[in-house]
Amino acid sequence: MDDTTIPQSRAERGRSLHDLPEEHGFVDCEIEGRLPEELSGTVYRNGPGLFSVFGHHYLNWLDGDGAISAFRFDRGRASAAARVTLTPELIDERAKKEAVYTSGSTVGPHWWRRVGGQQKNPTNIHVLAWHDRVFATTDAGMPIEIDPWTLETVGPWKLSGAAKAMVGAHSRRCPRTGSTYILGVAMGMTGMELDVYELPRAGEPRLVTAIGTHAFPFVHDFAITESHLVIAVPPLEVGVAGFLAGVSAPTKNMRWAPERGTEILLVERAAPHAVRRITTDAFFAFHFGHGFESSDGTTVAHLCVFDRFDPGEAFAIDRARSGRAWVDAAKSHLERLEIDANGTLRRTRVSDEVLEMPTVPHARETHRATWIYPLVTRDHHDRVGKLEVATGKIEIADLGAHRHPGESNFVPRREGTHEDDGWLLTQVYDASRHRSGVAVLDARRVSDGAVGTAWLSHHIPVPIHGTWVPGIPGR
Ligand SMILES: [Fe+2]
Repeated sequence: MDDTTIPQSRAERGRSLHDLPEEHGFVDCEIEGRLPEELSGTVYRNGPGLFSVFGHHYLNWLDGDGAISAFRFDRGRASAAARVTLTPELIDERAKKEAVYTSGSTVGPHWWRRVGGQQKNPTNIHVLAWHDRVFATTDAGMPIEIDPWTLETVGPWKLSGAAKAMVGAHSRRCPRTGSTYILGVAMGMTGMELDVYELPRAGEPRLVTAIGTHAFPFVHDFAITESHLVIAVPPLEVGVAGFLAGVSAPTKNMRWAPERGTEILLVERAAPHAVRRITTDAFFAFHFGHGFESSDGTTVAHLCVFDRFDPGEAFAIDRARSGRAWVDAAKSHLERLEIDANGTLRRTRVSDEVLEMPTVPHARETHRATWIYPLVTRDHHDRVGKLEVATGKIEIADLGAHRHPGESNFVPRREGTHEDDGWLLTQVYDASRHRSGVAVLDARRVSDGAVGTAWLSHHIPVPIHGTWVPGIPGR
């Protein structure tokens, strides 16, 4: 398929992958339809926002400097803000007025500055909310604190001193205890280690355990249950020699090693040094939906499974902008992992639909969920989905021609009595007007489409993940 035959929806999606055109604090949104009066809070999203620095163009979509966008809902109105996150490296480059660092697969322009592995972490994947604070996060980097009212950068946050080294993109918060968990990667005494941090409801973050791994643990996401963390370590070997020598980007030194299989780690929350390891046929997963323990003590997790991880140039910027990247991208399916008390693992495909970005209501983070809300891809077109887990039955919403959804975040209705009594806040790009917004769907009737949409006057380059922060606290 050449670029002239790329489906229109894919070509349109790629058109948003250009620099965030303006940075600003909260400004009123144009409202289409009607926003729920009681919807009160802010959804913060993160994604690559700038695709070059001083004329040095990034090779891959995911190398772009991160930008935070936020849509705030209050009494039927909405306002939105967007700003680039000022990482220490971007501040340095702006001071020097030149590109300095390697970012992802884009090596820095000067070899002598690459020696030793100095690189920029663009901090462009997710948002962590903790103790009324907001942080931009990324894979294998350090969270950057963001002012929740202005989106201006506060600075790097090393988990209040608890972080041993790099910290991951995804976090999970237990609905019962309020504790948030986040993973990290460090070089241990005898090799690589996967670090587990707990950010409690009250008190400071702490390292709860460090798990030795035989290779660089590329772990993007995980699940929590009432008793466990469920982690999948893919058989991905990451060589660092070329990177440290300043010759190549770290992403050029990844090898998929399926013969080793994927290792499932079950970490007991009450005794985190007790780790059960189960090896299964190789798979790769970026994202979990949620996890829970069934009544017979079986640990269950739902996740989106790829047959393999392709560390190549899947999302090279030109391929992403043309839309080809999404045409060719590997496809994932929802799978259920069940690990019984004896450590026996069972894997079941839940649905043959191609889907990703699975989310559940926060209250279902550690509980059985009737529905998971993924981004569903059919005929090269993304749609908002509501998947019934027990049957695989799926309801989808089409947001309209030229409108391309991203991840959905579930917000419960205040007086809601049913699991699906709430709204889905879905990032959407309108290619016909080259602008971005957040669509609000009634989760009980997803197929009705959006009840209302809050629009900015400009586009936001495809954001990746978002976090809902309820309420509008006074300052
Ligand atoms: Fe992710």
